[in-house]
Amino acid sequence: MISLAIRHARLATMEGAQGAPQDGPLALIEDGAVAVDGERIAYVGADHDLEEKLASGELVRDPASVQIDAAGALVTPGFVDPHTHLLFAGDRASEFAQRLSGISYQDIAQTGGGILSTVQATRAASDEHLIEGAKQRLARLTRAGVTTAEVKSGYGASIEQELRLLRLIRQAGQGSGCDVVPTLLGLHAVPPEMDRHAWVKVVATELTTEAAQQGLAQGCDAFCDKGAFTTDECRTVLEAGVRAGLVAHLHADQLTNTAGAALAAVIGCSSADHLERTGAAGIEAMARAGTTAVLLPLAAWFLRDAKPAQAAPFLAAGVPVALGSNLNPGSQRMEGFSLLLAAGCLFSGLTPAQALWACTVGAARALHLDDRGRLAQDLRADLVLHATRDPAHLPYHAGVDHARLVLHRGQITLDLRNDPPLNCG
Ligand code: NIG
Repeated sequence: MISLAIRHARLATMEGAQGAPQDGPLALIEDGAVAVDGERIAYVGADHDLEEKLASGELVRDPASVQIDAAGALVTPGFVDPHTHLLFAGDRASEFAQRLSGISYQDIAQTGGGILSTVQATRAASDEHLIEGAKQRLARLTRAGVTTAEVKSGYGASIEQELRLLRLIRQAGQGSGCDVVPTLLGLHAVPPEMDRHAWVKVVATELTTEAAQQGLAQGCDAFCDKGAFTTDECRTVLEAGVRAGLVAHLHADQLTNTAGAALAAVIGCSSADHLERTGAAGIEAMARAGTTAVLLPLAAWFLRDAKPAQAAPFLAAGVPVALGSNLNPGSQRMEGFSLLLAAGCLFSGLTPAQALWACTVGAARALHLDDRGRLAQDLRADLVLHATRDPAHLPYHAGVDHARLVLHRGQITLDLRNDPPLNCG
């Protein structure tokens, strides 16, 4: 029973290969239609074929169904953000200023700033404060057309606090119009009151099991880098996560090449994230293992990293590339999803079509979710109608939200169709 249909749209189904030339990754359907049955997509294809199926009774319209005429505008799957740290308290604007005066991210961390300063602020904050901040950040993502967002813990740095943050992440997601995918980031920073070996052991043997058994986390992650955690420590913790049934991710090779990408591949991580300094061996290992590369070009920009990860070597090796916002208080505090698309093009070298693929099907793959990120029958009805016909317009005219209608699980969560067209302003 068709509950809603978007007619006469330019559909970017994302069924193409990411490496295909020009608009190939988008697999566009001109004058297309998407019909929704409850939470699922019931039909994707040519508009005239939908008309025939409705006329013949092959598809039946609910008498209360909604019909939306897209008038040729672009419809994409809902965006997926596969890497955020958006539940936190406090502000690190002073570190931003310090970095601009020449002090490095690592030096700031070693002198008591960095992740540990957010751990302090987050531990001290009330549940209400943390949920409210996360809800506001999620609202800005959903306004841009994001319908699934991964959110990591990692600013608790104790068993109780990490489990608390995972609970709050879930609560923040409720009623947000966005699916929230909570990830346990146990190895983010060494707790100030604990020895690092003891913390690694506690994360591997207690925290991971608790988070998985209580159903609080879907994924697990670790910060593998010089000045963070070693490959051996990350391996111990992520293998425990995989045994507990969690989807593994790894912060890999951001500041130095510590063979993080190769480790992610060996463990069977769904994604390796950052990858600014990954070499050919790491890329080949990821290709063999089917690990998705999550590039975070806004963080590279924010940290003034002269070498943002480039998409080309990953694509050439057959590694799917996703883009993530990496929204967090320290290394990436800019919000605006079209900025991410632009950064994917301008810093990481993706074409607009590849960047859109990266923010939909690529990002869904990074989270090991195969029920979204593309427009296909039976997938989740998470859709965005944009205020443009041209896919390249989204990264080209960055810094504004292009979404004019958003469907999350088949329900309209944003309707700005009466707003003036963006190309007027
Ligand atoms: O992905 N690298 C580790 N985690 C974050 C930074 C978090 C912070 O600085 O608070 C990242 O960039």
